[in-house]
Amino acid sequence: MINVGVVGASGYTGLELVKILLNHPQFVLKYLATTTGDTVIEALHPSLQDVLTYPVEKASVEAVIEHCELVFLALPHKASMGFAKDLIEKGVKVVDLSADYRLELDTYEKNYCEHEDKEHLDESVYALIEYYREDLKKARLAAGPGCYPTATLLGILPFIPYIDTSTPLFVDAKSGVSGAGKKLSQTSHFVNINDNIFAYNPLKHRHGPEIAEKIEKVHGAKMNVNFVPHLIPATRGELVSVYATLKEDIDPIEVLKKHYENDVFIRIREKPVDIKSTAGTHFCDIFAAKNGNALFVSSAIDNLLRGASSQALVAANLMCGLPEGMGVPTVAYMP
Ligand SMILES: NC(=O)c1ccc[n+]([C@@H]2O[C@H](COP(=O)([O-])OP(=O)(O)OC[C@H]3O[C@@H](n4cnc5c(N)ncnc54)[C@H](OP(=O)(O)O)[C@@H]3O)[C@@H](O)[C@H]2O)c1
Repeated sequence: MINVGVVGASGYTGLELVKILLNHPQFVLKYLATTTGDTVIEALHPSLQDVLTYPVEKASVEAVIEHCELVFLALPHKASMGFAKDLIEKGVKVVDLSADYRLELDTYEKNYCEHEDKEHLDESVYALIEYYREDLKKARLAAGPGCYPTATLLGILPFIPYIDTSTPLFVDAKSGVSGAGKKLSQTSHFVNINDNIFAYNPLKHRHGPEIAEKIEKVHGAKMNVNFVPHLIPATRGELVSVYATLKEDIDPIEVLKKHYENDVFIRIREKPVDIKSTAGTHFCDIFAAKNGNALFVSSAIDNLLRGASSQALVAANLMCGLPEGMGVPTVAYMP
């Protein structure tokens, strides 16, 4: 058995981690923390009453070191690197869900803030499982990809060898409101979200540079990525539509099937995908079609699971020598 903890247990991704870890055959929850602590998990998340009783402490590096072999940091960016640097030095494996260890230094500092743990940035492994599986098996620090980049990259990466990378890539993404975390804002106010849909930060969202950087890392292709996210009146789920120009005549579905033939958590769909079929699961569903040289790729994920917590769990499984799919949720919240 492996002792693990969650820092940021009061948040949305923290709750998903706690729920997954409750039923994991090898990971044992030994530490839960938030900014202030001094409470119990069922008080923070009443849905856990009579399911789990566990103290929640004020987050401390020393306590993580004492209790955990591996820790999930479900924290905002900047807060994560403050914890991670000391933990790694003390031999605690870290899976960080924030942006702090996802990007090259210059991409990070251009889009977020000054990096405070440059020393460990180079060794972090980008936890897009299907592309970094072998590296994760040797890692002591994993960086969970952004939710939009997860859906976008899983959809478009198989096609990069067949598209004209000198033409712009257009990514039209839609997300449920939980993607923004638990903090309230004018934008996510019920009256603004309900019966509504709108773009936010078009062409300027920080996930655009992340998508471009990872396409270049995996395929060596520098692309002009035009990323436009939208908020939709749903709690969870992300649907990403990518538009590109083909340079070869291919059968898009066959390309996807061949590329992901050994990846059990990618489902290639013959019909357009939807968010509800992946809600509550680690699956990424992908569909693609073409019209002449125009390519359309559509992928759907649960932003809180494949886009965050279940992907983090799979990274932890691999880092600890466990089977990739151990404890991973697979049954969707349907109907
Ligand atoms: N939501 C998504 O779909 C999604 C997807 C992919 C990645 N992510 C990333 O995952 C991270 C967590 O996201 P979330 O949606 O779960 O956010 P959230 O709902 O806002 O939760 C954030 C958590 O961090 C805790 N926290 C903040 N600063 C802290 C500090 N200095 N020390 C200890 N705890 C601290 C908060 O505790 P308090 O309650 O005490 O403030 C809370 O538990 C973010 O970096 C986010 O960008 C989120």
